[in-house]
Amino acid sequence: MLKVSGLTKIFGGLRAVDDASLVVPEGRIVALIGPNGAGKTTLFACIAGFLPVNGGRVDFRGENITGLPVHQIARRGMVRTFQITQPFAKLSVLENIAVGSHQQFARREDALEHARGIAGQVGMGHMIDQPAAQLTVAGRKRLELARTLATSPKLLLLDEVMAGLNPQEILEIIAIIRQIRDSGVTVLLIEHVMHAVMSLSDHIYVLSYGKVIAEGKPQEIVTNRAVIEAYLGRGAADQMAQMTDTSPASEGSAHA
Ligand SMILES: Nc1ncnc2c1ncn2[C@@H]1O[C@H](COP(=O)(O)OP(=O)(O)OP(=O)(O)O)[C@@H](O)[C@H]1O
Ligand SMILES: [Mg+2]
Repeated sequence: MLKVSGLTKIFGGLRAVDDASLVVPEGRIVALIGPNGAGKTTLFACIAGFLPVNGGRVDFRGENITGLPVHQIARRGMVRTFQITQPFAKLSVLENIAVGSHQQFARREDALEHARGIAGQVGMGHMIDQPAAQLTVAGRKRLELARTLATSPKLLLLDEVMAGLNPQEILEIIAIIRQIRDSGVTVLLIEHVMHAVMSLSDHIYVLSYGKVIAEGKPQEIVTNRAVIEAYLGRGAADQMAQMTDTSPASEGSAHA
């Protein structure tokens, strides 16, 4: 579905994304994790056409889409959510969602009907008439998800849709993301909520200082030395091994 090869993005002297490669197979949920400032959002912006790249290539559904403008990439079926949500504050929830539906349905009634279905899919069926400005954080995150879903994407890029949610709201959005995947939409998600990443993902890529430092199944990633050190600092893997394991000279499965 998506193949990113050697992607590089430079801001001034900073290599925000540095030769990053990843693959998202159709029908899967793939996660992109990493410490704050690792370059995750920048990588999303480059993939979806919001930022020009300094090197590398993006293939989507077998086509080279590197450098294409956002609307052309969206028309091919790839859309992203924003870490900072930006709904049309004065419009209702339904009207906000219908903005995405309008691209496929010329008649307003059809677009609104489609938007109503999407609202139900993300658990907002009971609040379609509320102005977007009145939504809670959880509501805004769901609306952001709904607005992208309304364009009938093939690949969804989700940037921290769980940030700021309480544990119950996180469980609800995990279930919604699973349903989206089951409905045939492939998902690439950036997320800091680790239990959500672990339970949702088929595969995880770890970004640190712009580089992919590890990839694998969730169970492989939690025990990966390079990943632990990227999050907790150099030497952390050894310290953790000492704290959790009394046997001498135990060696974790290091990859990097
Ligand atoms: N438009 C920009 N101009 C200059 N530097 C930028 C720009 N956007 C991001 N950066 C820098 O690039 C680096 C990567 O930022 P990015 O937002 O991609 O990180 P992130 O992994 O998404 O972090 P977080 O988990 O906090 O959202 C940071 O050092 C950031 O300050
Ligand atoms: Mg980010």
